[in-house]
Amino acid sequence: MSAEFPSVRPRRLRSTPAMRRLVAETRLHPAELILPAFVREGITEPRPIGSMPGVVQHTRDTLRRAAVEAAEAGIGGIMLFGVPEVQDATGTAGTDPEGILQHAIRDVVSEVGDRLVVMSDLCLDEFTDHGHCGVLAADGSVDNDATLERYAEMAVVQADAGVHLVGPSGMMDGQVAAVREALDAAGHQDTGILAYTAKYASAFFGPFREAVGSSLKGDRKTYQQDPANARESLRELAQDVAEGADLVMVKPAMSYLDIVRQVADASPVPVAAYQVSGEYAMVEAAAANGWIDRERTILETLTSIRRAGAEQILTYWAVEVAGLLR
Ligand code: PBG
Repeated sequence: MSAEFPSVRPRRLRSTPAMRRLVAETRLHPAELILPAFVREGITEPRPIGSMPGVVQHTRDTLRRAAVEAAEAGIGGIMLFGVPEVQDATGTAGTDPEGILQHAIRDVVSEVGDRLVVMSDLCLDEFTDHGHCGVLAADGSVDNDATLERYAEMAVVQADAGVHLVGPSGMMDGQVAAVREALDAAGHQDTGILAYTAKYASAFFGPFREAVGSSLKGDRKTYQQDPANARESLRELAQDVAEGADLVMVKPAMSYLDIVRQVADASPVPVAAYQVSGEYAMVEAAAANGWIDRERTILETLTSIRRAGAEQILTYWAVEVAGLLR
């Protein structure tokens, strides 16, 4: 401390737990947390996901119970992912009204639909045998506009099943407009869109591949964003908002906090961030080795995502953290 300013002492505001609580700029609340959940067709017991300790592929029954537990914990929402028994080139199970995801939506909405915002992943990768987020052209590339037609159908079956927000996550150009148009034409004006707006071609999605039994070979670099770039996030934001996104999302979260901040500063709609499977797995693995304090680390990661400007956070720890915050 310089001699001219002997009494400027920032440490005063850090001196006691009560003082720190008083001046905290960022607070976590269960209402802003969203639990991603996996439901697998044709199983009778939940299946652990090896790369995500503590996370399972649910049966329809255990998913219902997990949804009740989430509602009781007071979290804000649940994001559903379906794992079908049969995958094919166009992801037929994703648009079948009797498909696993549609069943799961109906189950969860009827169980807790008045207490939780129910959301569904709107993407083909869980349903295609090649594992891409869209349908393929003859040359093997992902066909943007043919995929939009599939997304439009998917949006309508998910809305028919009662979902509150659909989450188009494939990063096809024009996906929000295609989904909005299809929902409106089917009389689903009140079904909202949580757009995966700035989604990066990230290695942090690794464990998710196991979670949904994806057979992807190769990568998603021709449709998801390049980790080197920030500017295109703002372009995607402008586009998604113009196309009718009700909320927008940045994903992954922790390696993209600068993007969360830039999108939050520019967005006229709420901004969510997705703390993805690899982020979860890293913390769990380090904690299991005794290298970090698990609970403190979890809370610190979520606080930093909130501090960067995200208003909603998808996290596999949502229910546990709601308990910690109580
Ligand atoms: C696409 C989708 C993915 C994730 C959420 N939605 C995978 C991908 O785009 O490769 C990843 C979530 C996570 O890693 O936790 N359906």
